[in-house]
Amino acid sequence: MARGFFITFEGGEGAGKTTQIRRLEARLGATGREVVITREPGGSPGAEAIRALLVTGDAERWSPMTETLLMYAARRDHIERVIAPALARGAVVLCDRFADSTRAYQGAGGGAPAEFIGALEAAVLGGVRPDLTLILDLPADMGLARAAGRGGSEARFESKGAAFHSRLRAAFLAIAEAEPDRCVLIDATRDEATVGAAVWSWVKSRLGPP
Ligand code: TMP
Repeated sequence: MARGFFITFEGGEGAGKTTQIRRLEARLGATGREVVITREPGGSPGAEAIRALLVTGDAERWSPMTETLLMYAARRDHIERVIAPALARGAVVLCDRFADSTRAYQGAGGGAPAEFIGALEAAVLGGVRPDLTLILDLPADMGLARAAGRGGSEARFESKGAAFHSRLRAAFLAIAEAEPDRCVLIDATRDEATVGAAVWSWVKSRLGPP
């Protein structure tokens, strides 16, 4: 069976993931490979419906454990209906956030137990694990300022306070350190083109020839 390549983008708020995914899509498209762009929470109709529950409303709307369960319900639907079929076709899948965001936001940020999240990863992800995770790193206050400039109604997590967001950054750095074969840390304080060049060079080196 064909096996595609699964790339996830991670990081705090306002790190530029969405912009970088679009840039990478353009570069990968020119190689003739099928590229699928998707996001979490969301990416399938069912998961997008769950996303609406997660990213809108009051900061304390859900407990960290409930949030984790909702994220994993959305993730399972997304895997079954979008990610696994695309990988089976041989596509390159670019996903804006995935399981590391749950470890960081609900785990390190919110205090959901790491064993609980680990058990869900084992039970729900199956064999669908990222081949490469690009972590866009920048100070929390810089990212929040960028995200605030963007506006919009999906600001529930942005409203969680400075201490929460500092814990996220530390969590992503710890994930990068713990899993160096999968994760690459990219300095996202630099301009868009420089970050894009770093992203492309890592992807090229890991993906190999078409
Ligand atoms: P986005 O702004 O990158 O589209 O992501 C939506 C929000 O959802 C963002 O604030 C991070 C949050 N999130 C989690 O808290 N846990 C998760 O597992 C995922 C995928 C996202």
